[in-house]
Amino acid sequence: STGMCTFDPGFGSTASCESSITYIDGNKGILLYRGYPIEELAAEGDFIDSTFLLLHGELPSKQEKALFEREIKYHTLVHEQLIQFYRGFRHDAHPMAIMVGVVGALAAFYPEVAEVRNPQQQLRACYRLIAKMPTLAAMAYKTSIGQPIIYPRNDLNYAENFLHMMFAVPSERYEVDPELAKALEIIFILHLDHEQNASTSTVRTAGSSQANPFACVASGIAALWGPAHGGANEAVLKMLEEIDRLGGVEQIPTMVARAKDKNDSFRLMGFGHRVYKSYDPRAKLMRQVTYRVLEKLGRKDTLLDIAMELEKIALQDDYFVKRSLYPNVDFYSGIVLRALGIPVEMYTVLFAMARTVGWVAQWKEMVADATGRITRPRQIYTGELRRKFIPVYERQ
Ligand code: SDX
Repeated sequence: STGMCTFDPGFGSTASCESSITYIDGNKGILLYRGYPIEELAAEGDFIDSTFLLLHGELPSKQEKALFEREIKYHTLVHEQLIQFYRGFRHDAHPMAIMVGVVGALAAFYPEVAEVRNPQQQLRACYRLIAKMPTLAAMAYKTSIGQPIIYPRNDLNYAENFLHMMFAVPSERYEVDPELAKALEIIFILHLDHEQNASTSTVRTAGSSQANPFACVASGIAALWGPAHGGANEAVLKMLEEIDRLGGVEQIPTMVARAKDKNDSFRLMGFGHRVYKSYDPRAKLMRQVTYRVLEKLGRKDTLLDIAMELEKIALQDDYFVKRSLYPNVDFYSGIVLRALGIPVEMYTVLFAMARTVGWVAQWKEMVADATGRITRPRQIYTGELRRKFIPVYERQ
C-alpha cells in the first residue's frame, strides 16, 4: 500500500485511507498489528517486538531486536534545557497540557528534523519520540509533586524504566517489580496503534503539510486528550469513583438511566466505540491484566466490583445492546493503573506514550509516499447563499 490518505467525503465519494499497519474488524472484535493478532503479541511478545513490527512491518530477528532496542535506548535522555520548561508550569498543571508543550518544543532542539523527506532523519525522529516520551512523562509527574527528576536507566526495559523514573527517589533504593512492569508493558502493547482513530488522523493531517514529526505528535497528544477519546480512561475512573461516592453498586441503575436519557449529557465512559460493535479485544485483555495485578498485590478494589456490575447491567440493557455499546480499551485501564500507583491525571499521558509508537509508524508510512498530498477534508456547505453587504447605518 502507499500509505496515502485521500479524504473526500463530499457528494458520494467516501473518506478513505490506505495503510498496511493495523487492521480492525469491528464486528468480529479483531485487531491485528501488521497481520499479527493483538492477543498473541500481548501474550508472547514484548514492547520492542511490537514497536519494531509497527515501524518496520516485520517481527525483528534476534540481532535486529538487540540493535533496535539499543537504538531506542540511545535516545532516552532529553536536553537539559528542556527541564526549564517544567519549572514554568504551576504545580497543578494537567500533565497532558505539559506534554503538548514539551513534545512540540523538542523541534527546537533538533532543527535537522525539519527535513522530513530525509529517510534517515525520519527514522531518527521516530526513535527519539518513542524513547523520550516516558522521560518527558515521568518529568511531568515528578515536577507536579515537587520531587527531583529521575534520569532514565538504560539497563531497564521500557516499562521498568518508566516505573523507575516515576517512583524512584534519589534518597532510597527503588526496585522495579518485574511482574508489575510486565503488566504495564502489556497495557502499552494494547495501546500502541489503532488504525485511523481521531488522534492518528490528526497526526497524519499535520504530517501531510510536511510539519516536523515533533509538531505532528504534539497535535496527536492534543487530540487524544479529549474525554471522548484517550481522555476516557481518566473519565472512567472519575465515573467509578463518583458511583462509589454516591453509594456504590446500588447507584448503577441510576447511572445507566442517566446514560440513556437524551436530555442528560452523561455517557457511560469506557463504553461504545466508533468501530467496535462487539467487545473491544483490548478490553478483554485489560480485564485479565487487572485481575492479575490485583491478585499479585493481594488487593481488592471496590471500583473493580462496580465496573463488573456496571458492565453486567449495561450488557443486559436493550439500549446498549441495540446500539452495540460494549466496554472499550479505556473501561478497565483506570483500575489497573490505579493499582500500579499511577495517579489518575497521568492515565492519558500513558496512553499517549504508547500511542506515540503508532503515531510515528503511521507518520513514517505517510511521509515515505513522496507523492502524498496535503489532507483537505471536503465540506458540505450548509450556510447562506450569496448576499449583498448592508452598511451599518442601514441595518436594524
Ligand atoms: C478510544 O477510534 C478509536 O480507535 C479510539 C480508540 C483508540 O484506540 O484510538 O479506541 C480509543 O477513544 C476509545 C473510546 C473512548 N471513549 C469513551 O469511552 C467515551 C464514551 N463513549 C462515547 O462517547 C462514544 O461511544 C464514542 C465517542 C466512543 C463513539 O461514538 P460514536 O460511534 O460516534 O457513537 P455515537 O455518538 O454515534 O452514538 C451512537 C448511539 C447514540 O445514541 P442514539 O443517537 O443512537 O440514540 O449510542 C449512544 C449515543 O448517544 N452512545 C452512548 C455511549 N456511546 C454512544 N450512550 C451512552 N453511553 C455511551 N458511552
